[in-house]
Amino acid sequence: MLDKQTIVGVIGSGAMGSGIAQVAAMAGHNVVLYDTNNAALDKAKAGLNNTLQKLQEKGKIANADEVFSRFSFADTLSTFANCGLIIEAIVEKLEVKKAVFTELETIVSADCVLATNTSSLSVTSIAAACKKADRVFGLHFFNPAPLMALVEVIPAVQTNEGLIPAAKDLMKAWSKIPVITKDTPGFIVNRVARPFYGEAIRIYEEGIADMATIDHAMTAGGFRMGPFALMDYIGHDVNYVVTETVFQSFFFDPRYKPSFSQKRLLEAGWLGKKTGRGFYNYAEGAITPAPNADVTLATAILERIVAMLINEAVEALYLNIASASDLETAMTKGVNYPKGLLAWCDEWGADKCLAILDSLYHEYHDDRYRASVLLRKKAFDRTKFIDKN
Ligand code: NAI
Repeated sequence: MLDKQTIVGVIGSGAMGSGIAQVAAMAGHNVVLYDTNNAALDKAKAGLNNTLQKLQEKGKIANADEVFSRFSFADTLSTFANCGLIIEAIVEKLEVKKAVFTELETIVSADCVLATNTSSLSVTSIAAACKKADRVFGLHFFNPAPLMALVEVIPAVQTNEGLIPAAKDLMKAWSKIPVITKDTPGFIVNRVARPFYGEAIRIYEEGIADMATIDHAMTAGGFRMGPFALMDYIGHDVNYVVTETVFQSFFFDPRYKPSFSQKRLLEAGWLGKKTGRGFYNYAEGAITPAPNADVTLATAILERIVAMLINEAVEALYLNIASASDLETAMTKGVNYPKGLLAWCDEWGADKCLAILDSLYHEYHDDRYRASVLLRKKAFDRTKFIDKN
């Protein structure tokens, strides 16, 4: 159904769309890249050409011109008539996406399948804009798409079941690592990772430790970046908005509650590294704060945040959001965690993780710290999540 001969259409030539188009062309497809904004399309064209030339110089591809010749650039949707797969990567607004999907259906053939790269919207509600809703599914790439191996494959409620294995195989052919996730807010990565940011901010807001100390505790525990440095890197316009969207989409579950500290940064326009100021000051000559190197404090911080992360992964498993192995793959390949959270729980013992959460729950009387039923079961029966045999 989906193979190398499939012509791939990509809608939206911004950061994600041009990255996805590059991946598809490098995997051998002819690709049509479309945008309503001509300046964005020109920028993508120049950017893709430049990137491919650099890849050739580095010996990563044999012939940049040949790969580039697989692209066509379009400012009208009618050019998608011969596509077999279309991936939408436009602005994150439900009504705009729905309008594009409805229009697409008047142009494409009956067997063309349609994917959305949405990070936070319901794939099911986008599919509902189509008459043939069973051809719609989610393909969530990570930024930058050519470098990040993980792709979350998301069946909508209406999606034809046969489409998902085909999409998974296609992603493998594109040298990606696909995981399958239910159509629930944040899919796997943006859901399970929330406490990495949220719990770090709580610890800071309560005055238990400063940002540099929390960041240090997490990097000493194996994470590539600390939460504050990472939020500044991602940008608060993206990271805060994802947190708020996930919170609202989960019917205001306190587990995902956003923070005022981060909201104020967004309001101030202190978006992080890209604006020179976020949680940290990136101005020339600004003093980098030194962490408190107290090992007991660092251990307490790491264990509190990791216990919250483990609880999210366990709850996602309990609610069948994804398989145990896909949850592990998603967190190690999508956000480069040092190990899978279920394996981490096995290493600690579920009883240790449960004790941390129960102690927080009793201290705060806050549902934010409620332990997953599955974690409680595992602590009781002492079985592991990951069978190593
Ligand atoms: P972007 O702002 O860089 O690019 C969006 C492009 O879509 C722009 O060039 C714009 O002109 C074009 N566009 C807007 N409305 C259009 C329409 N009706 N028809 C055709 N083109 C249209 O955005 P970015 O970051 O590439 O995000 C695109 C999608 O990918 C969003 O749904 C976002 O949530 C998702 N996503 C973004 C990630 C990120 O880290 N930036 C990661 C994963 C998913």
